[in-house]
Amino acid sequence: EKKHELNNRRIMITAGPTYEKIDPVRFIGNYSSGKMGFALAEECARRGAEVTLISGPVSLPTPDGVRRVDVESCNGMYNAALAEFNQCDAAILCAAVADFKPEYVAENKIKRGKDNLSIRLSPTNDIAEELGKRKRNEQFLIGFALETDNEEANAKDKLKRKHCDLIILNSTRNKGTTFRADDNQVEIISETNVKKYGKKNKHEVACDIIDEITALFRQSEKL
Ligand code: C5P
Repeated sequence: EKKHELNNRRIMITAGPTYEKIDPVRFIGNYSSGKMGFALAEECARRGAEVTLISGPVSLPTPDGVRRVDVESCNGMYNAALAEFNQCDAAILCAAVADFKPEYVAENKIKRGKDNLSIRLSPTNDIAEELGKRKRNEQFLIGFALETDNEEANAKDKLKRKHCDLIILNSTRNKGTTFRADDNQVEIISETNVKKYGKKNKHEVACDIIDEITALFRQSEKL
């Protein structure tokens, strides 16, 4: 039934972590596995969309029918996302992008020593914010949020600040969800609505999220 509902839609999805280089052999990363983003890509393609999956370093197979662009750092993901977004009907920003990167990358491996070592960090580009600025009326932007406190208020603030149409709020309160897990529990937040869902596997969560995006497409057709 849902097989063709995204026919002729182009959707880009960012997934996984980013690695920010410290020296030739070290980086700053995070525990994102890419599972949620890859599940979204698989289900969008299954429903007929033309999908570009921009992925940080993960060890997951590319879903059938999905065009994959591999990147390593926030900068790489930023450039790939900006190149893609103009041609897309929607962007789902699922990647756990580093918020800071080393100000300088050491040319040679940093040697061990007895003194403390400080690495100065500078802020990375905010991909979501930049796409929010470029978003045309008929395009949709979907962001993710992982909050530890004031979850809904912070997510709503993010929705406005980054010009997102939906924010998918991940709960950090439940065991066996978010990073590396097979399950997730989310709230889907729009300007006017908060929908709460139970704990499910990431494929089922992907279906719930895509149902909401499909509803956005349908509403915009009626206008
Ligand atoms: O502000 P915060 O990092 O919590 O926002 C999370 C959302 O912004 C996610 O959708 C994430 O993919 C996106 N993001 C981004 N570029 C960054 C940081 C976050 O696109 N540098």
